[in-house]
Amino acid sequence: LTSERYGVQRLPFSHVSDSDLAFFEHLIPGRVITDPDELRLFNVDWLQSVRGCSKMLLRPRTAAEVSEILRYCNKRKLAVNPQGGNTGLVGGSVPVFDEIIISTALMNQVISFNSVSGLPELPEKRAPPPAQARWNCCGREEEPFHQPRSAGAAEERSPSPSPGPPELPQPGRGTPAQACRSCQGEERLPRPSPELPGTRAPPPAQACQSCRSRGKVLADGSILNCLASLRKDNTGYDLKQLFIGSEGTLGVITAVSILCPRKPKSVNLVFLGCQSFSQVLGTFTTCKGMLGEILSAYEFMDDKCMKLVENHLKLSKPVTGSPFYILIETSGSNSAHDEEKLNNFLEHVMASGLVTDGTVATEDKKIKMLWSLRERITEALTHDGCVYKYDLSLPVERLYDLVIDTRARLGKTAKNVVGYGHLGDGNLHLNITAESYSHSLLDAIEPFVYEWTAQYNGSISAEHGLGFKKKHYIQYSKPQEAVLLMQQVKTMLDPKGILNPYKTLPASS
Ligand code: MLT
Ligand code: ZN
Repeated sequence: LTSERYGVQRLPFSHVSDSDLAFFEHLIPGRVITDPDELRLFNVDWLQSVRGCSKMLLRPRTAAEVSEILRYCNKRKLAVNPQGGNTGLVGGSVPVFDEIIISTALMNQVISFNSVSGLPELPEKRAPPPAQARWNCCGREEEPFHQPRSAGAAEERSPSPSPGPPELPQPGRGTPAQACRSCQGEERLPRPSPELPGTRAPPPAQACQSCRSRGKVLADGSILNCLASLRKDNTGYDLKQLFIGSEGTLGVITAVSILCPRKPKSVNLVFLGCQSFSQVLGTFTTCKGMLGEILSAYEFMDDKCMKLVENHLKLSKPVTGSPFYILIETSGSNSAHDEEKLNNFLEHVMASGLVTDGTVATEDKKIKMLWSLRERITEALTHDGCVYKYDLSLPVERLYDLVIDTRARLGKTAKNVVGYGHLGDGNLHLNITAESYSHSLLDAIEPFVYEWTAQYNGSISAEHGLGFKKKHYIQYSKPQEAVLLMQQVKTMLDPKGILNPYKTLPASS
């Protein structure tokens, strides 16, 4: 085992010994994996951009088992890497060195579903949204598990918001990160809004706290249960929020509750073409005004993204010849009312020249097909070569300027520079591809992208987290005092630093 990887020095944690192996085999017999072939998949991230060299993976089924594991590791000073679905995009979900991987893959049971509150309790499990099936079709290996949606299905509930492919909420590292993280605890009831995160905004009556981590195990093995199945709870500090998005550096989430709103009776999706980004913005403003309470998603993608989806995945778009495309989804309870609103909106944007072409989908098959044009961009990018991935929050009117400036800066050194994302959230996904990894290309991109973002007070990670790849850039989005406070919290909760080391925060000086 090398003591340095990616320019990082291994910290003085213990190495796994035969007696450690014996302890874990006794604790969770048959669920300790040490076979290098089996471990390979868990050591590498989804993008295949970072690789650890863990020699052991543990598959606990209960919070009590996670507690025993952490108590032991803490005592022995063995570093651990909590891992959910391993769909992270910033290298946070895989070990860097030989950290023991604690997989939450077997914690996949739905404990209960409360049909009055709409809250399923997902104990010791992961919580896949409807996107899971679509994720599987990306060709990544995923093992079967119970979808919490099966509990809600009988009640016609839809787990939400749908985060889109790689942000599948899973217990483990502190997910579901994005949904709760982005809404900052504001009350946003009662109407859905495209300002909410994910490709799909929560339907009506869904509070910002749609995802709640309910149980967590701390570094020393103690179990913390935060009554997260209550809709309102304002007693003391919001500890749950601290863990959500902490990427497994503060504790291991072993149970979550997710608000499942009723499945909308009427869903429509439109795919539109625009001639400029300012028309994308104009359409957005009009859309908020005219669709109001039924607007549930507003996504944009540039033509280069669509070309990648067409070339690499052989998907064809229904509208052509535009430099920008938009997906607008409405979700409501009265199809006649929704269709009338949508038709008025479409007539308006076509007549005013904001939109040049478009198509509407009301039936499931076409809706799925149109969504796949957006949701499979990430997958298409991986077929284009080495991907340099950025996930920025920016003032919405500046969003696409960064793509233009990056393209101009990189010229022919990049194969493709594309932009897409959750426009309603002010969230740009800037992706750059090249035939192979190049350090000089990375130097041309970073810190340029972060400096560009910081000058507009943007965030260098809107939803993907900081993980291993971006932890050193936190200062572009957070003041020194905030970073210091985070480091103090980390030290207090995990004094030996065994939880997902080398991730999220720069080492304290
Ligand atoms: C998405 O919105 O598709 C995801 O955040 C993944 C990505 O950024 O590529
Ligand atoms: Zn996204």
